[in-house]
Amino acid sequence: MTPIGLFDSGYGGLTVLDSIRARLPRYDYVYLGDNARAPYGPRSFDIVYRFTLQAVRKLFGLGCPLVILACNTASAKALRTIQQRDLPRIDPTRRVLGVIRPTVEALPRITRNQHVGILATEGTIQSKSYPLEIAKFLPQATVSGVACPLWAALVEAGEHTGPGADYFVGKRIGQLLAIDPQIDTILLACTHYPLLLPKIRQCAPPGITLVPQGDYVADSLADYLERHTDMRQRLTTGGTCQYLTTEAADKFSQSATVFLRQPVHVRHIELSD
Ligand code: DGL
Repeated sequence: MTPIGLFDSGYGGLTVLDSIRARLPRYDYVYLGDNARAPYGPRSFDIVYRFTLQAVRKLFGLGCPLVILACNTASAKALRTIQQRDLPRIDPTRRVLGVIRPTVEALPRITRNQHVGILATEGTIQSKSYPLEIAKFLPQATVSGVACPLWAALVEAGEHTGPGADYFVGKRIGQLLAIDPQIDTILLACTHYPLLLPKIRQCAPPGITLVPQGDYVADSLADYLERHTDMRQRLTTGGTCQYLTTEAADKFSQSATVFLRQPVHVRHIELSD
C-alpha cells in the first residue's frame, strides 16, 4: 500500500484529514500524531525540525510517497529545510507539502479590505511565515498576528469545549482586534484551532470571516494530484485510513473518535532519529 501521509504534533491535523478525506475519499491515508511531544508551538526551531523529520521518515518508511505536514508550526519551521536539504538525499521522488501556502493562496478570494488577522502558535507567529507569504499575493495587505499559547494544549487536553477555554479565546481575539480594528478576515493558522471554532465565533464580531484551513488544503492537494500524474498513479486507492500516535493508543482513539465522529483504530509508535 502507498498511502498519503499526514503529520501533526497531535490532534489538530485531524481537522485537515477530515477535509482531505471528504474531498479525496478514494486514497489510502496514514495519520501520525506526535501527541506525546505536543504541543510544538513553544518549541525551538531545531527541535520542531528534528521531530518533524523523524515523523516524515517514519511515514516514508510506511510507504507514503507524499506527506502533508498538517501542522503550521512544522510547516513554518521545518518544511523548507526538509524539501531543500533532506528530500534530495532521502528520496528525491517523494514529496512533502505544507499547509501555509494553500491557505495564503485562498486569501485574495476571502478578504474584502485586505486587513487580515492571524491566530497561531508562538512558533508560527515568530517565524513570520504568514506575513511573508501573504505579501507575495497581497502586497498591500495589513497583516497582524497574535500568538495563542495554550490553545493547542487545551485541545490536546480535551478542554477546548469547557468553560476554561472561553477566557483564553476571548483574550487573544481581543488582543488581535486591538492591534487592527479593521480586520475583516481571521486565519485560524493552527490546525488545532477549528476545534475551538464555536468559542472563537462567540468572541469575534459578526462581520469577521473566520477561516479554518482544512478545505483550502484539500482543494490544493486535489489540484496538486491533478497536475502530478506520476504521484497520483503511485498512490493506492483503497479508501482506508490508519492512525498512529506516539502517546497511548486508547487515549488517542477516544479523542479522535470525538473529533472525527466515528470510531478509529489506533496504533502506538515511537519516533527517533
Ligand atoms: N497543529 C499545529 C499547528 O498547526 C501545532 C500546534 C502545537 O503543537 O502547538 O501549528
